[in-house]
Amino acid sequence: MRLGSVVLFVAFCSFTAHYIYEPIPEEIEERWKLMLTNSFFRGLSHLADFSELLGLKDYMGVMYFITLLEKVVPLSDEHVSVTEEKFDGVEVVLYQPKQEGHELRRAVIYLHGGGWCLGSSRMSPYDLLARNIVTQLDAVVLSVEYRLAPPHHFPVPYEDVYRVVKHFLQKGVLTQYSVDPGRIAVSGDSAGGNLAAAVTQQLQKEHGQQLKAQALIYPVMQALDLNTPSYQQNQDMPILPRTLMVRFWSEYFTSDKALFRAMMANTHNNYESSNLLKFVNWSAFLPETFHRKYNYSAPTVVKGDGGKDDVGMDGSSRSFADPRASPLLVPDTALHSLPKAYILTCEYDVLRDDGIMYVTRLRAAGVEVTHEHYDKGFHGAMMFTVWPTDFLIARRMTDNYIKWLKKNL
Ligand SMILES: *[C@@H]1O[C@H](CO)[C@@H](O)[C@H](O)[C@H]1NC(C)=O
Ligand SMILES: *[C@@H]1O[C@H](CO)[C@@H](O)[C@H](O)[C@H]1NC(C)=O
Repeated sequence: MRLGSVVLFVAFCSFTAHYIYEPIPEEIEERWKLMLTNSFFRGLSHLADFSELLGLKDYMGVMYFITLLEKVVPLSDEHVSVTEEKFDGVEVVLYQPKQEGHELRRAVIYLHGGGWCLGSSRMSPYDLLARNIVTQLDAVVLSVEYRLAPPHHFPVPYEDVYRVVKHFLQKGVLTQYSVDPGRIAVSGDSAGGNLAAAVTQQLQKEHGQQLKAQALIYPVMQALDLNTPSYQQNQDMPILPRTLMVRFWSEYFTSDKALFRAMMANTHNNYESSNLLKFVNWSAFLPETFHRKYNYSAPTVVKGDGGKDDVGMDGSSRSFADPRASPLLVPDTALHSLPKAYILTCEYDVLRDDGIMYVTRLRAAGVEVTHEHYDKGFHGAMMFTVWPTDFLIARRMTDNYIKWLKKNL
């Protein structure tokens, strides 16, 4: 009996240790903290799979718990006045400096991450970042609560953001908040970086309207090639394994699992998207050092006429080749008059090469780009600022990002 419980106990401990322990590269700082953090994410992901399997709640519905866990009610403090508003029907959280200024202010429109399916501008790390920008730049921050997939597939999240940006840029609105029309930036992390890049392009295309800057933090830039060297190298890395990123991508467009399976196999390209593969050719756009041990092979293109029965997917599945979802898919002529850019990438991130390819393409088109690559960085690192999942690297990233905004906005 006693032996039995000992055996059970040992089995339980080794299972737990095995669950938590994951081969994380030596050079990543605070490795054990990251392993523990990640075991929580993995555990929740398994629970979400299980729940979906049993037909209880869909996968993203369970994963949304992450968002709820960190949600706060944004309140005004000593230095920052916080209000919740609706801009053209879309919820925003508006942060303004309390101190009266006699000059017009800078503004940052911020878009949170979470794979278009999770996250909120009301999560404590985003709330904290917004206050940080307000106090350090004496700026106005507009944090957009765009609607999320899967209840709201593409283009809803994108369009919500675009509507807010256009509403904010109206002369009367800028005057109301004492914002200098010549000093406005759009910024975001991960899926938020994707939305930021996409609206910046769209504004330029439709209005020739120049934002002063765009600041993209480990952005998602393209859905055509999900086997770039960084996708391969980091497929099991903490926080954002390849499976989860592919899941986010497919759920952005459709709840039809056929797209998820095709994207997992990188065989989702069709006749229509194949002409755009040249824009995501990593053999051409990644500096040699980032090729690592991988050899280029173009994604398989599944034959089809681009008709509605193509690869057995519905029409919305094919939106992955829309540049409003994959901002890398535009020709150089659509890039050259974009505002200057800040792009942050992390070594241990499936999205590393997305960001680096955009750096190369923007520079080739003549755009001024500051590229900060973190050798020890992992996806999502900059938002790990709140105890108990606070990481030193998050502080360094935040400092450098704000420093860039101070100087360039
Ligand atoms: C990708 O770029 C390489 C040169 O860097 C070229 O040889 C290859 O044909 C290109 N492939 C595609 C699909 O554009
Ligand atoms: C890449 O190509 C080189 C030269 O053709 C070959 O030696 C190497 O094994 C290839 N690497 C992989 C990972 O396939």
